Amino acid sequence: MDLPARVGEGVETIDTPALVIDLDAMDRNLAAMADFARAHGMRLRPHAKMHKCAAIAKLQIAAGAVGVCVQKVSEAEALADAGIGDIYISNEVIAETKLARVATLAGRVKLAIAVDSALGVQRLAHAVKAAGTALDVFVEIDVGQGRCGVAPAAAGALAHQVVSHGQPERGLPATGLRFAGLQAYHGRAQHLRSAAEREAAIRHAVALVRAAQASVTSAGISCPLVTGAGTGSFVYEAASAVYGELQPGSYLFMDADYAANDAAPRAPRFEHALFIKSQVMSRGISHAVIDAGHKSHAIDSGLPRVWSLAGAPPLEFSNGGDEHGILLAPSGVTLPELGATVWLVPGHCDPTVNLHTHFVGVRGSLAAGRRPRDVYLAD
Ligand SMILES: Cc1ncc(COP(=O)(O)O)c(C=O)c1O
Repeated sequence: MDLPARVGEGVETIDTPALVIDLDAMDRNLAAMADFARAHGMRLRPHAKMHKCAAIAKLQIAAGAVGVCVQKVSEAEALADAGIGDIYISNEVIAETKLARVATLAGRVKLAIAVDSALGVQRLAHAVKAAGTALDVFVEIDVGQGRCGVAPAAAGALAHQVVSHGQPERGLPATGLRFAGLQAYHGRAQHLRSAAEREAAIRHAVALVRAAQASVTSAGISCPLVTGAGTGSFVYEAASAVYGELQPGSYLFMDADYAANDAAPRAPRFEHALFIKSQVMSRGISHAVIDAGHKSHAIDSGLPRVWSLAGAPPLEFSNGGDEHGILLAPSGVTLPELGATVWLVPGHCDPTVNLHTHFVGVRGSLAAGRRPRDVYLAD
């Protein structure tokens, strides 16, 4: 496979379009979240669906994360193959073929999964029994996203079903399902622009978590952990006294959509660390065309922002289709020349990463840095 760059070469040699990580900025983001979690006595389990990269997951774990979250069985398998030993599939899996893979994987790494249905628990239990393995199970409750999850009042019955599929040995389930707690992620809260709106959304989520905890304890089961939170809301879950684990993902790369949120008081500041390197391939009088279109960056959360390295007024990115981006200059701003490098900040990091086979990591700035080593995608 052609690589977009070689180790040790300068940024100017990176072929375009390429997905480039400013590793210095990423390190600062990584440390800021790890420090926050430590200072607030929270377990940190970053979401690896965002980067899908074992090398980055290892950096997060080395900085203090207990493990990582993933959203898909294939992501869990790829990270396990690459040496990640503690993985939580923070999502529902219902297909029996996939559940058989989950059950097998549970024999290789410390694995957890979310459930939100009696059928899901029954199928999971069947798969785990056939494999003779053990698995931690979180009951997911809907705390406002309107996606997966049961109503809080139904959490106790589902937890009871989970517990009934454990095979205790000296008090602890040695095989089968272990009830690990509640999954309570509020996706819609993450991108509410004002900090006050996000705080109110999480206050409501916390009330629902408390109701779910009451449902579980009234079924005679203790609730070891509540896990959830994303980059837009983690300060509020950390302050809630009910959540014990944070699952943010995007903080590491910080996309344009997250940068449009008002900062929450007392939240660490995160920098953009993920960029698309592109170059001008055609030049008109009133516009320039770059070689990065929708096949280089996701547009579900808006078009990318053009990044100005020298602090010059930003150019405007306009939709040019799959392989092209159109740059427009506000009055008084000069368009870049043919062949000039243009850096983009993607609107949404997760689906942007999913479009690429490689990251190019750069140390020492996007303007003049060098590429120290390979960082490969895992999936
Ligand atoms: C279940 C779950 N947890 C955590 C996250 C991480 O959120 P973010 O990348 O916004 O920090 C997501 C993202 O969609 C998610 O679905």
